[in-house]
Amino acid sequence: MFNTTFIKFKDIKDKYGHLTPIESKINIPFEIKRVYYITKVDDGVIRGFHAHKKLHQVLICLNGSVKIKLKNPNSEELVELNEPSVGLYIGPLIWREMFDFTEGSVLLVLASDYYNEKDYIRNYDFYLEEAKKVF
Ligand code: TYD
Repeated sequence: MFNTTFIKFKDIKDKYGHLTPIESKINIPFEIKRVYYITKVDDGVIRGFHAHKKLHQVLICLNGSVKIKLKNPNSEELVELNEPSVGLYIGPLIWREMFDFTEGSVLLVLASDYYNEKDYIRNYDFYLEEAKKVF
C-alpha cells in the first residue's frame, strides 16, 4: 500500500542469541525523535483509530505478535508483525488500527517527531476528506 512498507533489519544471530541494530536515517527513513512502546494490552482491545498529518513511524513487534489494519481512501490491508528484525513503516495520512496483541507482546514505535496531539486525525470522516486530496 502506498505510504507503508516493511523494512528488514539485520538479524545478527550467534550462539548467544539474536541482535538487531537500528540506526536513525540509515535503516529508518527519517531522524528518530521519539521512541515509545505498547505493552500489556488486554485481549480484545483495538488501538489506533487514527492517522497522522505529518508524522512518519516505524513499528516493530519486539515480542509476540500484533495485527495491524492499514487503510487509505482506496484500499485496505491487514498485516501482522511477529518478528523483531522486521519493521513496518507508516507514513502520513494512513489510518491504522492495531489488535490481537498476544500476551507479553511488545510493540516498539520509532517516530519522526515529538508527541503532538495536533498532528493526529482521529475522526474517520475527516480523515477520508483529507486523505482523498492526496491519494
Ligand atoms: P495514542 O497514540 O492514541 O495510542 P494508540 O494509537 O496506540 O491507541 O495515544 C494514547 C494516549 O497516550 C493519548 O492520550 C496520547 C498519549 N501519548 C502521549 O502522551 N505521548 C506519546 O508519545 C504517545 C504516542 C501517546
